[in-house]
Amino acid sequence: AVGRPLAGRHVVVTSGPTREAIDPVRYISNHSSGKQGHAIARAAAAAGARVTLVTGPVALADPVGVATVHVESARDMLAAVEAALPADVAVFAAAVADWRVAEIAGGKLKKGAGGPPSLSFVENPDILATVAKKTAGRPGLVVGFAAETEAVVDNARAKLARKGCDLIVANDVSSGTDTFGGDMNRVHIVDAAGVETWERQSKDAVAEALVSLLARRIAS
Ligand code: PMT
Repeated sequence: AVGRPLAGRHVVVTSGPTREAIDPVRYISNHSSGKQGHAIARAAAAAGARVTLVTGPVALADPVGVATVHVESARDMLAAVEAALPADVAVFAAAVADWRVAEIAGGKLKKGAGGPPSLSFVENPDILATVAKKTAGRPGLVVGFAAETEAVVDNARAKLARKGCDLIVANDVSSGTDTFGGDMNRVHIVDAAGVETWERQSKDAVAEALVSLLARRIAS
């Protein structure tokens, strides 16, 4: 229907950072605020979709009318996304930690004669790639993001191929940009057909334009 082009569709969105524990009191994370991912969840709901938002720890309110699942680590986020499937569309806007500490200390690490601790890391599961490469139950449209500090479009193209998704929304997160945490974003839409650059606009406007693009694609 006009105005509700995603009526009857289920859309899963990830948003925010993940937190990877070091010990019971410390963690490793990143600067994602959840603003871009939450805006996509709101825009999809406004377009008539049933929306499941899987979010890491953020200071934002749960969007009205959106089933919101709160998680901490990348592994929790993957489990929550798997539990939310099947979906017609999945959008992965979360800034997921690529690595976690190999062994979470059971007690608080202490300052001491041994000097600072050394941490070793292991790779986290890639949630986007896991969903995009499913042979059974893959969402009709799988959308990733790419947060880059250099060669934004080239790196996004490489991610599109490596992760197996249908479309990548690429944005520049170099120091000096306010892509992490700010209210505005300039994105490049990268897919098999090529690249389209959208002028810097509010994250809400990016979300609305992305949702109408996805609604057109899922309909055709
Ligand atoms: O939250 P805001 O403050 O509004 O900022 C928005 C944003 C910059 C976080 C957002 O626009 C953005 O770029 N999100 C993706 C951040 C990221 O981690 O990008 P990446 O290039 O490292 O990852 C590529 C893609 O793989 C992303 O879709 C990511 O969600 C996904 N991924 C990455 C690692 C992993 N283990 N699992 C994943 O699913």
